[in-house]
Order: sequence, then structure tokens, then C-alpha cells
Amino acid sequence: MAQTESGIPVEPVYGPADLTGWDPAAELGQPGDFPYTRGIYPNMYTGRPWTMRQYAGFGTAAESNARYRQLIEGGGTGLSVAFDLPTQMGHDSDAPLAQGEVGKVGVAVDSLDDMRTLFDGIPLDRVSTSMTINAPAALLLLLYQLVAEEQGISGTQLTGTVQNDVLKEYIARGTYIFPPGPSLRLTADTFRYCRAEVPRWNTISISGYHMAEAGASPAQEVAFTLADGIAYVRTALAAGIVVDEFAPRLSFFFVARTTLLEEVAKFRAARRIWARVMREEFGARDPKSLMLRFHTQTAGVQLTAQQPELNLVRVAVQALAAVLGGTQSLHTNSFDEAIALPTEKSARLALRTQQVLAYETDVPHTVDPFAGSYAVERMTDDLEAAALALMRRIEDQGGAVAAIEAGFQKAEIERNAYRIAQETESGERVVVGVNRFTLEREEPYEPLRVDPAIEARQCAALARLRAERGGAAVTAALAALKEAAAGTANVLYPMKEALRARATVGEVCGALREVWGTYEPTGSTW
Ligand code: 3HC
Repeated sequence: MAQTESGIPVEPVYGPADLTGWDPAAELGQPGDFPYTRGIYPNMYTGRPWTMRQYAGFGTAAESNARYRQLIEGGGTGLSVAFDLPTQMGHDSDAPLAQGEVGKVGVAVDSLDDMRTLFDGIPLDRVSTSMTINAPAALLLLLYQLVAEEQGISGTQLTGTVQNDVLKEYIARGTYIFPPGPSLRLTADTFRYCRAEVPRWNTISISGYHMAEAGASPAQEVAFTLADGIAYVRTALAAGIVVDEFAPRLSFFFVARTTLLEEVAKFRAARRIWARVMREEFGARDPKSLMLRFHTQTAGVQLTAQQPELNLVRVAVQALAAVLGGTQSLHTNSFDEAIALPTEKSARLALRTQQVLAYETDVPHTVDPFAGSYAVERMTDDLEAAALALMRRIEDQGGAVAAIEAGFQKAEIERNAYRIAQETESGERVVVGVNRFTLEREEPYEPLRVDPAIEARQCAALARLRAERGGAAVTAALAALKEAAAGTANVLYPMKEALRARATVGEVCGALREVWGTYEPTGSTW
């Protein structure tokens, strides 16, 4: 019998017997009502389409700025910034560890000067911006706010998201800096700062996407992500923040695979679990605290370098799953992403895929069209049960942080990744163009390449910055930051002053490293 990606058997036919005892009032409710299985808004896309938010950024701030302008002119409705690895790890472009990586997987941002160039000519009061930045999330948010202030825009007008999800960095993505304790303290400081200064900002994007890319099944993706969410809620509560003061600004990030039915079930199950956890376990009352709002990216790991145009088809199916699952925001991958950074043309085609779904199909015209389907409701219940069982195993270990420290999630994901690799190897799992329906000779493809001279240019700009700025002001501001980090005051206020004085990302993170130390990973237990 066929199985879902979570390993749950799939019946060839579902019928009323599969929903015996199923109570639509309790399990579904109305769209926009508890437990939000059918979506978080009563009217969903009939009121407003999802945000078309294409993740982009490479090279220098000026090159990325040009790509953002193209995306907005092409009909993109939100921005999503990719930072290079040195920025994500809190190193400047001229640091020895940055060598060879500057501007490669995203844009290099060293200081306020780069951030100003990155958003040049983009009205920050009219566009919402997501930034995929985790350990140094607070810094990049503050740089964004400083640029907005220069444009005459206040923090209360800004909308956007910082990924800021360090727990999944320890599990699957790897760009952590500090140990879990200080990382979570920084997260709580960021929640509190945003509430006071940037109240419409989504303070975190609790992410299952990277776990899925590392090989997590849909049930693992939901369970480990929501368990991380629970850990963040507990951290904020322990820091004395009231649940309804931060929970409305928590957001999530999931993958969409080509297994459309299970993915739709996954999104619906995740919403239901989160609403119940927030209400029953944490006593949240504000409906916004109960709503699982999420961004989706189509599964990069399912794209193939062979016959890359097939990826256009895969992405369309994946995107359809996200939309049928009620996503708030969507990134569709470009067909050439298994080979290199997307070209301008492939990035445009990816955005056009969303536009076809939004404006040519009838999918957005009615809310949660799968509701009441024997198959999808049963799959939703099954996935919910599988995810809850995994979440209980995490609770039994003392919660997400303790389980991470024991290497649990990582080992579970590795086990699943190994299974997928074996199935692909044996041909049991068909990957079109790779292990079936292959071509003898692939057509040549000319990928986009990042100019290696970028690193030298970025280093020269840093040398100029260090020569020009007031060194004493930077030293004093970094000392004030270290003092706050060693005590209990919110570090974001002195951090903002240091960045305003043109301290670099590497210097600010370096100051925090001195006080908080760095994280050494636990070896896999598997
Ligand atoms: N009725 C009423 N109001 C509606 C509505 C409807 N039908 N639809 C939308 N709205 C309102 C919303 O309430 C919201 O108002 P608010 O700000 O006052 O709350 C406003 O319209 C904007 O709508 P959404 O919140 O639905 O959409 P956004 O796009 O603004 O936000 C999000 C979506 C998921 C909450 C947010 O966190 C987000 O944008 N996330 C994006 C994350 C992202 O792009 N990540 C990229 C990661 S790439 C990565 O990790 C790289 C690599 O390693 C793979």
C-alpha cells in the first residue's frame, strides 16, 4: 500500500467510514475561527491574495537593490532578503573566515552604508520586507529601522519579518553564533523591543523549511517547528512578557512539496495544533495569538539539475499545495536553482507561476476548497496525530532546547533523509529525469555566476568606512553594548547606537561573542 511522506498508509479510496465520529464543528469551525483549520481569515484570498515574496539577494547591495526593483516592477508584493554567509554568521567581509564567501549565497551587508544602498529608492513604508537572518537578526532589523528613519519613516510604520529562529539553526541550518541561553535572551529582547518600537513587525519566522530540506518528513517538520515555537513562547513568558503581547507577531515558515494532498493536510493540521496549544496551554485570548500565520517556499530539495525545465512543473504543483493550504506568503523557486543562482529570466518565471495561480485559476475564489473531502480530512487528522506524538516525545525530554542539546531532532531528520536517499537509489522513489525518463545527453545550460571581484570591492569599502568614521564613538558604543549583554538590560537599544555610529556587523557580533561565547554543536547520536 502507498504511504505518505510521513510514512502513514494511504487508502486507495476514502469514504464516510474514514471519518467516523469526526465532528466538523470542533475539527474545522469556520474559516477565520478557532481552531483555524480552514484558514486564518474568513474570506482568505477573496479578500486579499497571498503575498508574492521572492527570496533574492547576491553580490553587493547595489546589485541586490537592482533585483528588488525588478521584482517589484514585475508584480512582486513583498521583499525577501538573502544575506551572504559571512553576514549570517556575524562576520565582516574582510574577516579571514569570510574569504571566498562574500556575496555568494546572498548579499553582503557589513554596515549601515550597505543597508542604505540595499534599500535605495524603495519606500519602506509601502513594502513589507522579510530578512532571512537568524543569530544577528536584531542587528539587521535595527539597520533596517535606521535606514527607514533616514527616509523619514518611523518604526510604527514598518512591516516585515526577521527569521530570527536560532533553534532550527542548531537542528538543521547551521548559522548559529551564541549558545542557546544567550540566543534565547536576545530573542526575548527583540520581542520586547519590537512591541515598543516596531509593533507591526513579525519578530520571528519559526521555520520548518530547512528541516524539510535536510530530510524531515512532513510530520517531523510540523512537530519540530511547533515544538520550537513552544520553546520561544516559554522563553518570552519567563522573561515576563504577557502572551497576548508577543504571540500575535509570531510567524511560521514551511515547505511545500509535490505531494500535494499530504501538504494541504499538513498546513491544516499545523494551524489546528497551534491554535489549541496557544489557547489551552498558554491561555492566549487574543485570536491573533492563536492564528498560525505562515510563509511557504516550494521544496528546493525536490528540484533536479537534470532536465531543469521539469522544475517549472514541480514548482507549480508545490505552489498550488501552498495556496490550497492557505499560506499567507509564498516564494516559488526558480527552475535553475538546483544548478546555480537564478538568472533574471528564471526569477521572473517563478514569480509568473504565482501570478498564473492567483489570476488564471479558480483556486483563490473559494476558501479551503478541500474541506469535507474524505481523503484530505482523514489525512489532516492522521498528520495531526503523528505530529502530536512526536511533540510528546520532545516534551518527555524536557522540551525543544533539551532535545536539541541531546541531538534528538537532528538524528530523527538524518534517519528520514537516509531512507529517502535509499529509496531514490533503489528506484522505489521515482524522480523524473533522474532515475526514470532520463536523457542520454542533457542540454547545456549557462548559469549566472557571482563576480569574484565583489569580495575585494567590499573589503575596500570597509577599509574606507573604518578610516572615515569616529573610532572613539564606535569603541564607546561597543563598550555600552557589552555592558548591557553582561547584565539584564535590553541589548537592542545600545546595539542600535553602535550601528548608528557605523560599527560593523562583525564588530557588534564580536562584542557579543566576547560576553556570551559561541556554540559548539552536539555530535549526532545516530
Ligand atoms: N482579511 C483581512 N486581513 C488580511 C487578509 C484578509 N483576507 N489577508 C491579509 N490581511 C492583512 C493581514 O492581517 C496583515 O495585516 P497586519 O500586518 O496588520 O497583521 C496584512 O494584511 C498583511 O498580510 P499577511 O500578514 O497575511 O502577509 P505578510 O506577507 O505581510 O506576512 C507572514 C506573512 C508569514 C506573517 C510574514 O511573517 C512573512 O512575510 N514571512 C516571510 C518569511 C520569508 O519570506 N522567509 C524567507 C525565507 S528564505 C530562507 O530561509 C532561505 C533559505 O535558507 C531557504
